[in-house]
Amino acid sequence: MANSIKGRNFLTLFEFTPQEIEHLLDLAAKLKAMKKAGEKHNYCKDKNIALIFEKTSTRTRCAFEVAAADLGMHSTYLDPKASQIGKKESIRDTARVLGTMYDGIEYRGFGQEIVEELAAYAGVPVWNGLTNEFHPTQVLADLLTIREHFGSLAGRHLVFLGDARYNMANSLMVGCAKMGMHFTACAPEKYFPDPELIERCQNIAKRTHAILDFKTDPMEAVKNADVLYTDVWVSMGEPDEVWEERIHDLTPYRVTQALMEEAGVDTVFMHCLPSFHDLGTEIGRQIHEKYGIDCMEVEDAVFESKASIVFEEAENRMHTIKAVMAATLGGK
Ligand code: CP
Ligand code: NVA
Repeated sequence: MANSIKGRNFLTLFEFTPQEIEHLLDLAAKLKAMKKAGEKHNYCKDKNIALIFEKTSTRTRCAFEVAAADLGMHSTYLDPKASQIGKKESIRDTARVLGTMYDGIEYRGFGQEIVEELAAYAGVPVWNGLTNEFHPTQVLADLLTIREHFGSLAGRHLVFLGDARYNMANSLMVGCAKMGMHFTACAPEKYFPDPELIERCQNIAKRTHAILDFKTDPMEAVKNADVLYTDVWVSMGEPDEVWEERIHDLTPYRVTQALMEEAGVDTVFMHCLPSFHDLGTEIGRQIHEKYGIDCMEVEDAVFESKASIVFEEAENRMHTIKAVMAATLGGK
């Protein structure tokens, strides 16, 4: 199994079999246990990786940097202002340059086609650290978190509430389809995922016995769910003008205590983070002044409740990203 992953890119999760995803989760769990026990695991000693971030990040950048250090690697962080990428040098040329110096490259940015082009020309593994369309390293961490909490993945029911056309819902749908889970997107119809992507995932679901469905009524959608999952209503790179419409359209899909109660006593709350659950952020305060609301996609009481496993989920970003790097670089 380890050999089948060595040398490969990590771009969408589509490219990995359920068995390979399970292997990455097992490896992440093992690396997590080793880290907690203080056992050294510098399996990629003296390799070098480049981290390209065309959008901002806390978790993903830190997860890559800490994981790289734990694996014995050196990392170079490139932000859009400090490099030639895109402005003076094409992605294709950048890929061919970085591929001569680095053993692996992470990319966070805009269109999925950019990370695909990077991967086509780099000659070394490329890892998608978030594009508009997909966020596969986040979903790997989510799967590990769900598996840790419930003991298994197959048959678990995850309901995503909010803008289901974007990276998080897309990647959760792919991950749930691969792992034989039940994925529900709950949103106004115009926020449902792209029909072609749904069809691709439904084809996978036929083989894995996953269930994928799409609902508009939150109270109906959340019944007996294992996980209620949400994401910000406006994603990085989107214009400020969309706020008003999103607040209007998505407020009925906010994860509230009433929804959590309707879902069930054992239901957990998950969120990729960052989250607008209170007035502790600049944007949260601006939105409060303009629209009079004190939270957006999730109520603070849910975010801070015992059912919320968002910080376990955030920690797992590091362990799963470490597993992806170790497996694709051939260290494990
Ligand atoms: N969840 C996530 O990707 O967080 P960052 O934007 O902080 O990396
Ligand atoms: N949909 C969000 C995810 C952040 C991790 C965004 O793209 O901004």
